[in-house]
Amino acid sequence: MQHVLKTQQFSREWLKDFFWRTTELKRVFETSTNGRARLRASLKGRLMHSVFCEASTRTRFSFESAAHHLGMDIVATENGSEFSSLIKGESIEHMIEVLCRYHPDVIILRHKEEGVAERVASIASRYHISVINGGDGAGQHPTQALLDVYTINSCIGSVDGITVVVGGDLTYGRTAKSLVYLLSKFERVRFIFISPPQLRMDAGVVSHLLERDIPFREVSVENGTEISEACREANVVYWTRTQSERITDSVKMMSIAKSAWLYQITVEHANLLGDRGAILLHPLPINGEVENAVDHISSAKYFEQAGNGLFVRMALLQEILQA
Ligand code: NCD
Repeated sequence: MQHVLKTQQFSREWLKDFFWRTTELKRVFETSTNGRARLRASLKGRLMHSVFCEASTRTRFSFESAAHHLGMDIVATENGSEFSSLIKGESIEHMIEVLCRYHPDVIILRHKEEGVAERVASIASRYHISVINGGDGAGQHPTQALLDVYTINSCIGSVDGITVVVGGDLTYGRTAKSLVYLLSKFERVRFIFISPPQLRMDAGVVSHLLERDIPFREVSVENGTEISEACREANVVYWTRTQSERITDSVKMMSIAKSAWLYQITVEHANLLGDRGAILLHPLPINGEVENAVDHISSAKYFEQAGNGLFVRMALLQEILQA
């Protein structure tokens, strides 16, 4: 594997092996000082360029921490759209063309434009440099989906046969899209999409499911009981925030904000999940769409999920750079 651009690229077989390797890496890291030192030597001398042109906490910190734990060197910009020549009007293509001449082994790119990771990868390929998409606008966020499915697998014990409620902003939310594409690789997975009518599931995802006969239904909240009903069926609830930075129409944004309270995950929802051994995931950040007190309920696994991001990204860097 040279690049990581979108979740359609992974095969079921690869995922199985990758999750096994992630768990093994996590075990070594957490239980053995010796093992930790071995990991630190594993990618010594390799260079990561961390190019973040959009806000990030988890993706950037976990990738950069992953690189440190593997002994890599890092050159980073955390605010590339302002602190690089992009603000002077340089194109991302020119920027990457030049960065490639500084011989990184891998470039992690987050950018506001959908499709940019693929364009950049075709440049980097000429230099035999890998590109990992750390989120391209409303497009995809493949490494987030890897850690989401890894978390599902480790909490539930299996991914086949599960019912997944995906809720929130399903139009602009790249994590929700990447997740559905990835889960569609597994057997008998069923989806319930819950969103305000203005933020319904992306048409590309919907046709992907229709073409493959993968069952799903779309729900919008009307009488307030719909989320609870879905929680009674779900093995996993994956909730997301409204991507307000991508919604330029202020009238639309206002009408979404007005109904936001209808789409909040409450303690009652989290308890319903907990009673059935089901889990609540969220890519974070949470911006009011999950009640604060839910943090302390055992079905809420979003901090564990974020923590898994470190190990998933370490395993991915090893996979790409040790090949
Ligand atoms: C997500 C993203 O950037 O798409 N955050 C993350 O990487 N964990 C979700 C979001 O910003 O809503």
